[in-house]
Amino acid sequence: MIISRNIKNVVNIIKKVKSKKKIVGFVPTMGALHKGHLSLVKTAKKDCDFVVVSIFVNPTQFGPKEDYKKYPRTFKKDKKLLEREGVDLVFYPTVKTMYPKDFSTYVQEVFLSNVLCGDSRPGHFKGVCTVVSKLFNIVKPDIAYFGQKDYQQAQIIKRMVADLNFGIKVKVLPIIREPDGLAFSSRNMYLDKIERKQATILFKALTLAKQLIKGGIKDSNIIIKKMKKLILSQDFAKIDYIKIVDPKTLRDVEKIEKKVVVALAVFIGKTRLIDNIIV
Ligand code: PAF
Repeated sequence: MIISRNIKNVVNIIKKVKSKKKIVGFVPTMGALHKGHLSLVKTAKKDCDFVVVSIFVNPTQFGPKEDYKKYPRTFKKDKKLLEREGVDLVFYPTVKTMYPKDFSTYVQEVFLSNVLCGDSRPGHFKGVCTVVSKLFNIVKPDIAYFGQKDYQQAQIIKRMVADLNFGIKVKVLPIIREPDGLAFSSRNMYLDKIERKQATILFKALTLAKQLIKGGIKDSNIIIKKMKKLILSQDFAKIDYIKIVDPKTLRDVEKIEKKVVVALAVFIGKTRLIDNIIV
């Protein structure tokens, strides 16, 4: 497995790989890898001839009061996991490499980005689109892999890829969960024992929503009210948002008549967790 911190080096390796008509798969990550990331890598390995994983904690997607500094950085462990999966190249740039002093160009999607997490985290998706554009230009993948846990992010990336003619296929893969339902997330590491237990309330609330919708309840407000009550039964839980939205536009759906996404962001103690379910 090649590990490179250098853009030119990666560009040259990819050039050579592509000259042999090999399919390049790409999994962008911020490291602190878990089973969710590994499921993306495993699928990329099946689909592609050459798999690239990037590990970069991207400062531009964190707000000033967010967890950029304390975000888990576990490169040694990540490296071992990726080696085991047979990854071909790990791109592990520094902040200076990605954002040199004179950096002044950003990529912003302006329709899907200002609801849900975009509403609570202004500027977050501008940072995501910027770094993902840069990574796409460096790695030039044929297929890029994202997890459904960040449903909004995946939709924004798809939009950006179409709007800016990146010519990359974006694959969105299902959420991987712990046996008790908690979605794998690098931020789960922040939870203490009691918080970890209470964090299962996110999936319980989503499951309740699914049951209510399948049972014929069409009024989103009724469902959201019941979810709120369930989540707030946990004393460490504070709701950022609970929304029932159209899967494509991400706009609120009041009366459920076709496929919807139930999405939520909940603080468990100081840790903000997101999750969703497509019903
Ligand atoms: O989903 C993530 O881990 C990040 O937002 C991404 C896509 C790697 C961009 O920094």
